[in-house]
Amino acid sequence: MVKDKYRISFENTVYDRNLEIDKSISLIDKLEKERSLSLEEYKYLVENLNKEVFDYISKKARIIGDENYGKDVYLRGLIEISNICKNDCYYCGIRHSNRNCERYRLSEEEILECADEGYALGYRTFVMQGGEDGKFEPEYICGIVRKIKAKYKDVAVTLSLGEYDKESYQKMYDAGADRYLLRHETADKEHYEKLHPKTMSFENRMNCLKDLKDIGFQVGCGFMVGSPYQSSATLAKDLKFIEEFAPEMCGIGPFIPHHDTVFKDEKSGSIQMTLFLIAILRIMRPNMLIPATTSLSTLDNLGREKGILAGANVVMPNLSPVKNRKKYELYDGKVCTGDEAAHCIGCITNRINNIGYGVAKVRGDYKCLNMM
Ligand code: 5AD
Ligand code: FES
Repeated sequence: MVKDKYRISFENTVYDRNLEIDKSISLIDKLEKERSLSLEEYKYLVENLNKEVFDYISKKARIIGDENYGKDVYLRGLIEISNICKNDCYYCGIRHSNRNCERYRLSEEEILECADEGYALGYRTFVMQGGEDGKFEPEYICGIVRKIKAKYKDVAVTLSLGEYDKESYQKMYDAGADRYLLRHETADKEHYEKLHPKTMSFENRMNCLKDLKDIGFQVGCGFMVGSPYQSSATLAKDLKFIEEFAPEMCGIGPFIPHHDTVFKDEKSGSIQMTLFLIAILRIMRPNMLIPATTSLSTLDNLGREKGILAGANVVMPNLSPVKNRKKYELYDGKVCTGDEAAHCIGCITNRINNIGYGVAKVRGDYKCLNMM
């Protein structure tokens, strides 16, 4: 096929262009204008990623990010409260049937100590994340949330503890939890069923997200990039789902195999595709809170920095007790499992400063740009 090549310039850079690139660029411009594309258009973008298109989209995403959040990157202190899980997701290292995983559950006291340490370091959001641990009755979680919120008036609490019924989520919200992260994992039912055993249901996952939103949480969904059986069609569905669901937060990171899972021999996801999708999300939802995830920095030493430069505006350093960290191994090679909390926040702050951004020690709510 004969390609019409010519050159254009954008933000002081000259690009080689051809018809495929033109189409991607016009779709990116359309996304910026309309905040919406069709499934086919998202699929086209995903299938036609190349360097020129990536340069174009990441610059645009960064400009839009800066317009909305300036040079601030929000910090979230991640407390991994339990690696006990009743579920058996085929990709996850803490899945129930992994007999080699040494299980732990933090006590309430340990969780509160993490929060104390985090608060002193400047964190104003704590994320309590864990497996679906049967011991976590809603009342128990509510008790901890109440204690943190009573002690620290200027913090937000995010929960990431999997699926509960609506009544339980409501209790957690009433206890003071502000946000809830529940990755949808994939917006395609068939794909979902290839990543999870029959005991888990796509419909239930989606209903949980809807319940969380109806209750009033700031809600985060998300998915892994390059998970087994993912295709451009399922990715297009993910993007369309996010566009329509309109979450306040969305976390995406590359899939990384874990040696004790069904997917141990599968390939890792692509960094480039992850960054491209972050940029699409930033343009689609300019105000969304988007983390540069730990899995991104596990695959690439500069992953967090690249994530921010592609449009992310949140980092989630680990605040869990060092003795437990290695046990919360969702995938092989997870970074920062041996470091003290103070070391991680220092490291991340330096990394962010090096690319011209700064960590903002504020709650960092969705759209709340004036809380400095
Ligand atoms: N690789 C990358 N991300 C993973 N997660 C779980 N297992 C893996 C893996 N092997 C992600 C899932 C989950 C989140 C807490 O971590 O998307 O929702
Ligand atoms: Fe933990 Fe760099 S963020 S050591």
